[in-house]
Amino acid sequence: MKDTLERIRTCAKELADSCSELKTLDDIRVRFLGKKGELTSVLRGMGALSADERPIIGALANEVRADIENAISTKKKMLSDAAAQIKLKAEKIDVTMPGKAKKLGKKHPLTQVLDEIKDIFIGMGFQIASGPEVEYDSYNFEKLNMPKDHPARDTQDTFYITENILLRTQTSPVQVRVMENSTLPIKIIAPGRVYRSDEVDATHSPLFHQIEGLVIDRNIRMSDLKGTLDLFAKRLYGKDTVTRFRPHHFSFTEPSAEMDICCFSCGGKGCRLCKGEGWIEILGAGMVHPKVLRNCNIDPDVYSGFAFGMGLERIVMRRYNINDLRLLFENDQRFLNQF
Ligand code: DAH
Repeated sequence: MKDTLERIRTCAKELADSCSELKTLDDIRVRFLGKKGELTSVLRGMGALSADERPIIGALANEVRADIENAISTKKKMLSDAAAQIKLKAEKIDVTMPGKAKKLGKKHPLTQVLDEIKDIFIGMGFQIASGPEVEYDSYNFEKLNMPKDHPARDTQDTFYITENILLRTQTSPVQVRVMENSTLPIKIIAPGRVYRSDEVDATHSPLFHQIEGLVIDRNIRMSDLKGTLDLFAKRLYGKDTVTRFRPHHFSFTEPSAEMDICCFSCGGKGCRLCKGEGWIEILGAGMVHPKVLRNCNIDPDVYSGFAFGMGLERIVMRRYNINDLRLLFENDQRFLNQF
């Protein structure tokens, strides 16, 4: 029995020493020390021993058990320490490494200038309105005093979807929608995309942006129009900006005008930016035509108002002296990063 115990001791210790996995280590414990283990079954046979031998073998068996337990727990500690070390190494973070800078995006120049324009008008008490880009002919033209045979229609090459549905060629239909659906007074601007069937070149694009403005109340006069738009120009281009109003024609306003600003590049002397004119055209405007008011169920004998419309691309191009409209749509980072 002594020999068996010694053999168990040697065998178990050897196995524990050479073991390289925590799981196998547990198998070794079960094999020798478990309820049905080798050591346990030897101890079961102790009843057959003489009274003299029993304490000696008993003491040896305890020693063997302690030895095996010891070998297993030493190995267990070694293996789990090694595993922890590997894990630590893999998860190590070098806090002295230089960080990876994330490139921040920024607003497109069209959006930057639109935001500025919105802020200026919001500061004057305007609200922002919007309307659909797919529009009825009646809103885009008819109710704006441009019946089917009106020559002004030819100047706006229209994308028709059906005979009566089109891509809006201007933001002016939003005026009609707002007048039909709001209580008076009205004081809105409506920025948005508009479409015209133009060939792409340095000054034309089938998609561009306009900003529409509309003010309706009692006693609104041409002087309100001029005062509002002159202040707008001064806010956008600087307080010394000089404006002038030239007579013009739009079917939905009477009288109509275009507003120019004195060229901010040459101060009015004439240069490349203003094409030698000394003035730069900024927007179209006018007093809302009584027919348009009536089309929207507003009594022109009680109410009056003014409207204006401007092209966003034009304003951005003139402001930054950009000579090709396409640059604003191609999204070349080298161009955009300059703003
Ligand atoms: N819708 C006009 C255009 O596309 C611009 C315009 C002119 C709008 C005068 C207006 C206005 O509201 O009063 O050319």
